Amino acid sequence: MHVLVTGGAGFIGSHTVVALLERGHDVTIVDDFENSSPVVIDRIEQITGIRPALAEIDLLDEDAFEVAFAAAAPDAVIHFAGLKAVGESSADPLRYYAHNLGSTFSLLKAMKRHGTQTLVFSSSATVYGDLQEPPYTEEGGRLDATNPYGMTKVMLERILSDIAAAEPGWHIALLRYFNPIGGHESGLIGEDPSGIPNNLAPYVLQVSIGRRPHVNIFGDDYPTADGTGERDYIHVVDLAQGHVAALERLAEVDGARAWNLGTGHGTSVKQLIAAFESAAGRTIPSVVVPRRDGDLPRSWADTTRAEAELGWKATRDIADMARDGWRWQQRNPNGFADDRTR
Ligand code: UFG
Repeated sequence: MHVLVTGGAGFIGSHTVVALLERGHDVTIVDDFENSSPVVIDRIEQITGIRPALAEIDLLDEDAFEVAFAAAAPDAVIHFAGLKAVGESSADPLRYYAHNLGSTFSLLKAMKRHGTQTLVFSSSATVYGDLQEPPYTEEGGRLDATNPYGMTKVMLERILSDIAAAEPGWHIALLRYFNPIGGHESGLIGEDPSGIPNNLAPYVLQVSIGRRPHVNIFGDDYPTADGTGERDYIHVVDLAQGHVAALERLAEVDGARAWNLGTGHGTSVKQLIAAFESAAGRTIPSVVVPRRDGDLPRSWADTTRAEAELGWKATRDIADMARDGWRWQQRNPNGFADDRTR
């Protein structure tokens, strides 16, 4: 298949592009590098020996996107592009709604014009809000979110489901990611957040490499085994392979359908820090600070549906995630900014 990948230079996008190329698919990346680096394209070529086509455009620019879409003439689309910082979304909701909804509308209109009806959409476990106790199952229907970023995922899942119900011929995967971490085993691509990392794993890695003094543990008084928050961390390469599995099964699925992509296991903040300490062979200092607003005590996936219907299961454990995340950070202490070839 020829797959158009929006946000293909981002953390999950770049690992998915590698997985697609390794499976023999052709790829066109659409990215404006607002939150990613062009160096990623070189690194993908280094890993796979193939340089994916690139359209450097903002999806909100409908005219430019039409030209790129027509030139690529893709069989399918994987849509990663979007803003994703929870705190920032609460501070500037309009920007989040305009960006995440507007860029998806631009994409859907182009897909309709060109008769491309196979779409894999980046959703998030955030759509479960606090409506269920873990493990979260896709059944149940009602979705909610506690912040504007999460609401864009809830809304877009609904919009995509409505379109698929109204118009025949669509095949849409709504992939609900849990907490992707780690990096490619080559150490060439990984997570490279701009500014202060919002998420635990990249923060821990920046402490381990000496860029930050200590990790802030957001609360140790949760009703969990060691009092710190528990999450379903999933190796980004497993997640990438989940996208390929969904894409390759989608022809058999009519309409829109949701699948959880997680491991089914919870790991606490303290356990994750310990795994990175083992991988890096050094102590990672931490201090306990008050809880972060909006954080849930525990979240992990029921993975039954993805296993049964996509024939996919995460195979990498926390030690693998810590090892590959550390390898990436050790080889690129300042992320892609260390690459002086551009
Ligand atoms: N945490 C810390 N210190 C930090 C950062 C996080 O202790 O510096 C803790 C959090 O309290 C939580 C755990 O580490 O218990 C994981 O936090 P992350 O920010 O890494 O991940 P979240 O589960 O909060 O958020 C992720 C995605 C969101 C998504 C959400 C729900 O980043 O995009 O899952 O699915 F919305």
